[in-house]
Amino acid sequence: MLLFNKLKINMNNCLSNGEVKIGKNYKLYTNKKLGNGAFGDIYRGENISTRKSYAIKCERINKDHSSLLKSEIKILSYLQGGIGIPKIYDFIPTINYNFMIFELLGLNLDELFRICNKKFSKKTILSLGLQMLNRLEFIHSRHIIHRDIKPENFLIGKGKKNSIIYICDFGLAKRFRDKKTGMHIPYKEGKNFTGTACYASIYTHLGDEQSRRDDLESLAYILIYFSKGTLPWKGLKVKSKSERQNRVLSKKINTKVEELCSGLPKEFSMFLQSARDLQFDDKPDYDYFRELINKMNTDNVPLNQVKYDFIDVLEKKMNKKKMLLLEDNEKPKKININLEQSHKTTKSNTNNDSHEHEKDDVNVDNNNKKE
Ligand SMILES: Nc1ncnc2c1ncn2[C@@H]1O[C@H](COP(=O)(O)OP(=O)(O)O)[C@@H](O)[C@H]1O
Ligand SMILES: [Mg+2]
Repeated sequence: MLLFNKLKINMNNCLSNGEVKIGKNYKLYTNKKLGNGAFGDIYRGENISTRKSYAIKCERINKDHSSLLKSEIKILSYLQGGIGIPKIYDFIPTINYNFMIFELLGLNLDELFRICNKKFSKKTILSLGLQMLNRLEFIHSRHIIHRDIKPENFLIGKGKKNSIIYICDFGLAKRFRDKKTGMHIPYKEGKNFTGTACYASIYTHLGDEQSRRDDLESLAYILIYFSKGTLPWKGLKVKSKSERQNRVLSKKINTKVEELCSGLPKEFSMFLQSARDLQFDDKPDYDYFRELINKMNTDNVPLNQVKYDFIDVLEKKMNKKKMLLLEDNEKPKKININLEQSHKTTKSNTNNDSHEHEKDDVNVDNNNKKE
C-alpha cells in the first residue's frame, strides 16, 4: 500500500554533500542520476534505516499542469504484481517536488544496444522481442496502452533479475477502456502528438487517438532497429520538433515495408504489416505475433533462457573496473564495485557517441498534460 506523506521539504533539504532527505525514510543521491526524464529526473536513493537501494523519480510541481507522476503512479499501482513491472514503494509529495520511490533497475535497452556497438545477435533480438511483446500483452490485458514504446523505456533488472525486461515510464500511458462500462475509448482524429517520433506509429503521427495497435507498431520499429542498427528516419538534421515529426512521418510513409526490412527474415515485414493493418479497437492477436518471432528461431534456441549479448559486455566492463581499482588500491577487500558506477560510465560514454540520440529520441506530449 502506498503511503502519502504531506511533507514540507524542498530540494535544499540536504543531509550532507550530495544527499537530500526525502520524507522521513529516504535519502536521494544528487550525484547519482539514473536518467533524464521529460518531466523529471531519476536518481538513485536509499532507505535510511534499511539501506536498501531504490530509484527515485522526481517531478517539479507545475501549478499549470496536472501531475504526470501522479498519473504514472496510478497506472503503475494498477499493474503491480505483473512480471517485468517495476515495484513502487512510496509517493512523497512536497512543496516543490513530487517523488516516487520505486524499484531500482539496470540499464535501458538503448544504452545496452549502444554498449554492444549497436549489434545484437539474433537470439538476443528474438528473446527481447518475446519479452517486450509479453509486457504489452499484460498491460493491454489490464486495459492500459503505453503510448511511448521505445528502447529507452525497457530496462533490465538488477543483479539476478538482469534477464528480466521491465517496461517503464507510464507517464504518457492511458486507459483504453472505460472503468464502468468496459467500452473501448472512441476513435478520434486531430489529437496532438504524444510519444517519440522515431518509434511512433503512422496513425499517431497523423493525429489519431492511440490504441493497442500503436504500441505493437512501435515494437516492430524497435525490432527492426535492433536488427539493422538504424532506421531510415534516424539522425535527420532538423531545426524543430515539428519539423522532425513531419520528416519522420514522410520517411515512414514513403519507405516500403519490404525496403525497411530488406535483408531480414520475412517475418519482420509480416510483424510490421500486421500491426499496421489492425483496426483502431482490434485486440491484437498476440499469439500470432509470438509465432512470427518463434518462426525466426531457426536454430531452436530456448528463447526463455537466452544469455543476452550485453550480459557478457557488462561483466567484462565490471571486471575491468574492478581490476583498475585493485591496481589503485592496496586494500582489495574493501573494494565494493556496484552497477551504478558502471551505469554512469556507460551513460557518459554513450552520450559521447552521438548527439543524434538526444535529438532523435525525445519524447513529447504536445499537450504537456494528461487527458
Ligand atoms: N527504476 C529505474 N532504475 C534505474 N534507472 C531508471 C529507472 N527508471 C528510469 N530509469 C532511467 O531513467 C530514464 C528515464 O526514465 P523514464 O521513466 O523513462 O522517464 P521519462 O518519462 O522522462 O522518459 C530511463 O530511460 C532509464 O534509463
Ligand atoms: Mg522514458
